Amino acid sequence: MDEKLLEIEDLCVEFPTEKGKIRPVDRVSLEIRTGTITGLVGESGCGKSMTARAVMNLIKKPGKMTGGRILLEGRDLGQMGAKERRLLQGREISMIFQDPMSSLNPVMKAGKQVDEVIRLHEGTDAGEARRRTIEMFAAVGIPDPERRYDAYPHELSGGLRQRVMIAMAMICKPKLLIADEPTTALDVTVEAQILELMEKLREGGTSILLISHNLGVIARMCEDVYVMYAGKIVEHAEIGTLFADPAHPYTKGLLRAVTSLQEETALLETIPGNVPQLYELPQGCRFSNRCAFATERCRADEPALRDLGGRECACFLEDRA
Ligand SMILES: Nc1ncnc2c1ncn2[C@@H]1O[C@H](COP(=O)(O)OP(=O)(O)O)[C@@H](O)[C@H]1O
Ligand code: SF4
Ligand SMILES: [Mg+2]
Repeated sequence: MDEKLLEIEDLCVEFPTEKGKIRPVDRVSLEIRTGTITGLVGESGCGKSMTARAVMNLIKKPGKMTGGRILLEGRDLGQMGAKERRLLQGREISMIFQDPMSSLNPVMKAGKQVDEVIRLHEGTDAGEARRRTIEMFAAVGIPDPERRYDAYPHELSGGLRQRVMIAMAMICKPKLLIADEPTTALDVTVEAQILELMEKLREGGTSILLISHNLGVIARMCEDVYVMYAGKIVEHAEIGTLFADPAHPYTKGLLRAVTSLQEETALLETIPGNVPQLYELPQGCRFSNRCAFATERCRADEPALRDLGGRECACFLEDRA
């Protein structure tokens, strides 16, 4: 299948700050083909969550989407009325957030919150909704699901809350699931369970945008991968190409880090320095202050994302051969 489910075109998100206007998402374009899992990878602070929030129309003020379009099956989400867009969310697009508390209602029982999603979108009766919720709780690895159905979010551990939210996002089998670091807070056994569940959802027709700082998880799940750095997409390729022959020095650094068990430490060793603050980006290529291949040209001009035949990459290295 080669149809496009989601198209993000030239997306910009801006925030006014004391130090001036910043652009955590800067002309980002990204496509998700129907029935595929697409990865979005990059270190913390690169703009991955902000990109996802823009799709969900959940950019927190004073930030806002200042440019670009987001299309779902060709329908421009920005042109929809508020009611239409709300309905679409939950039924056609749902999201697993990095922070579970931001999407759970603290004064409502966990099970009821998942029930509500089913009843709202499918008109199912209460008994059937409860049965399906408990079944889903079990599927996402919640022990003793009947008891947990009646628990309030604050009575659950962080890992359990994360699983309740995953259950809520998956229950209606959306067309698009955005999973933002879905397993970061979970141990490896539960992580494997959740990833397996996402794979099953995909087989059932759901397309997934999987956001992670962990290329290992991305490699296991995705067909197509976008690498993001300081608000920009710097490389895009099929997973096989990206792993066998990464083109961008940033991607190369991320890949070197994957092989280490202590990923965070490895990242610092393989890519020295940090993601720059957005109000003090280096001139030219945003990666130039950390890149071993940087030249004067890199410090003066910003490389555009270019099609290199089978991949896209934003780096001047390709011109030097
Ligand atoms: N409320 C905010 N105001 C200003 N800047 C913000 C705000 N929230 C996030 N940012 C900045 O936006 C950038 C991208 O953040 P985010 O999308 O959360 O990154 P990621 O998900 O890749 O870790 C970061 O540099 C962060 O500092
Ligand atoms: S453009 Fe230059 S500084 Fe930027 S990643 Fe490529 S080689 Fe490094
Ligand atoms: Mg994030």
